[in-house]
Amino acid sequence: MAAKQRLICPSDELEDSRRGVRFEVRRAGEVVPAFAVRFEGRVHAYLNRCAHVAMELDWKAGEFFDAEGLVLICSTHGALYAPDSGECLGGPCLACGGLEPVAIDERDGAVYLREGKHG
Ligand code: FES
Repeated sequence: MAAKQRLICPSDELEDSRRGVRFEVRRAGEVVPAFAVRFEGRVHAYLNRCAHVAMELDWKAGEFFDAEGLVLICSTHGALYAPDSGECLGGPCLACGGLEPVAIDERDGAVYLREGKHG
């Protein structure tokens, strides 16, 4: 059975290295915050949950990039993540790991959440 798809946002709502879009997903029966950003032309999505302490990253709703727009930054203690992989690049997350990716698709001018086996 094909995975259900839920609309996250129109494609033009996500500009490169600019404001992200927040949404929610289900994980193990729980509703968990997530976000999508565009980086180098491609959309990437992750659970909005820092690997250091399970807190939301954005310093202002939707603001996930550092000032240069090159890395994702956690507003609590400054952990840095690669926007295109979620890999930890520096800060307190180095001992904890990266961001958890969320499966999404971009097609026909919109970004969709690929819902399925994650509950
Ligand atoms: S909670 Fe994100 S760096 Fe500590």
